[in-house]
Amino acid sequence: MSSNVATLGVGQVGYAFMGAAHSHAWRTAPRFFDLPMRPELRALVGRDPDRVAQAAHRLGWESSETDWTRLLSRSDIDLVDVCTPGDTHAEIAIAALDAGKHVLCEKPLANTVAEAQAMADAADRAAARGVLAMVGFTYRRVPAIVLAQQLVGEGRIGDIRHVRAQYLQDWISDPLAPMTWRLQREKAGSGALGDIGAHIVDLTQFITGQDVLRVNGLLETFVRERPRGPGQPNGIVTVDDAAAFLARFSGGAVGVFEATRYATGRKNAIRLEINGSNGSLAFDFEDMNVLQFFYGEESPQTAGFRRVLVTEPEHPYAGHWWPPGHGLGYEHGFVHQVADLVTAIGQGQQPLPSFADGLQVQRVLAAVERSSELGSWQSTEVLGEHLARRIEP
Ligand SMILES: NC(=O)c1ccc[n+]([C@@H]2O[C@H](COP(=O)([O-])OP(=O)(O)OC[C@H]3O[C@@H](n4cnc5c(N)ncnc54)[C@H](O)[C@@H]3O)[C@@H](O)[C@H]2O)c1
Repeated sequence: MSSNVATLGVGQVGYAFMGAAHSHAWRTAPRFFDLPMRPELRALVGRDPDRVAQAAHRLGWESSETDWTRLLSRSDIDLVDVCTPGDTHAEIAIAALDAGKHVLCEKPLANTVAEAQAMADAADRAAARGVLAMVGFTYRRVPAIVLAQQLVGEGRIGDIRHVRAQYLQDWISDPLAPMTWRLQREKAGSGALGDIGAHIVDLTQFITGQDVLRVNGLLETFVRERPRGPGQPNGIVTVDDAAAFLARFSGGAVGVFEATRYATGRKNAIRLEINGSNGSLAFDFEDMNVLQFFYGEESPQTAGFRRVLVTEPEHPYAGHWWPPGHGLGYEHGFVHQVADLVTAIGQGQQPLPSFADGLQVQRVLAAVERSSELGSWQSTEVLGEHLARRIEP
């Protein structure tokens, strides 16, 4: 990147898991990608002055703030990156867009359809003024996922018939694992459904180019109380631990989805299998540099799933990194996300996934909740607040 390109002043809210991943990406993207603007890590926001100042130093930010609204009045901030729990997304993102700041907001876009709708409306208003918004469905930026999307788009596996998607983790399978915001409905919106199920909804819609239109689902909470710490009463879990649902896609495909944090032994297994009329694709994030490809036009004598190592310079993003076979990791998706976002902003184009894409995912999540509650198929096109789901202790 030449030194005389315009700068993009970034302010980021949150400095824990996603905060660290995004900071790394903001620092790294301009060093590996030729970007039209140079991101400057101007301000990191937290609530505790000492901790956020330490985090800013550790993660490479020029300054720190203890109130995110300070970013809105700082003229050196062009973009606000929202890395906080879902209950804060709508308020921060809408205020930032209305103040003329571009926004990158973590997923799921919001905690309810109504919030997501308000965010998509704010993004539309902002886009008319050249201010852009993107939601952080990061796994879209894994090279093997983009290759799968390209192969489907080129018609290499024919008409899509089956979509099989699982997101499997096990980090709360121990009933004594402590309470966190991810298990509180008012903070997280939902449990496994919104936290990890949202990713596989986005990924399958992205790869197939089809929207989920109808769902039939069930949610379950296995452990309803969790320890908060010595001397404190147990916390009540108010979200789902596991979600499963059937789906109908707009192009005729049928889908089977599963999201759980109780799949003992599975750490971050995003498993996708797409069966088309002329072939299949399969992916597992625990082997993230590989895409399995079955091509129906090969001779039956030698046909079979081919293990494609997605690290060639011809593959998406891979040419920006290491020689073939040297492999990418979790953090690279976030670097690609920043590179794509800054490129779109520099070119004045809508970055994807948009807030409208995030809203569509939110409608699917809400429809799964309604379906689990009512025990029937539900359309994702029904707008409005999802039914409050109460889990009796
Ligand atoms: N893209 C992905 O793959 C991915 C992965 C994990 C999490 N996420 C999403 O990222 C978001 C954050 O998750 P996380 O895992 O980083 O959580 P975390 O608990 O690790 O970090 C949350 C951060 O937000 C801060 N925070 C909370 N409320 C705040 C407020 N009102 N003002 C300022 N700071 C506040 C906390 O201090 C902390 O720094 C969530 O929406 C989550 O769903 C996305």
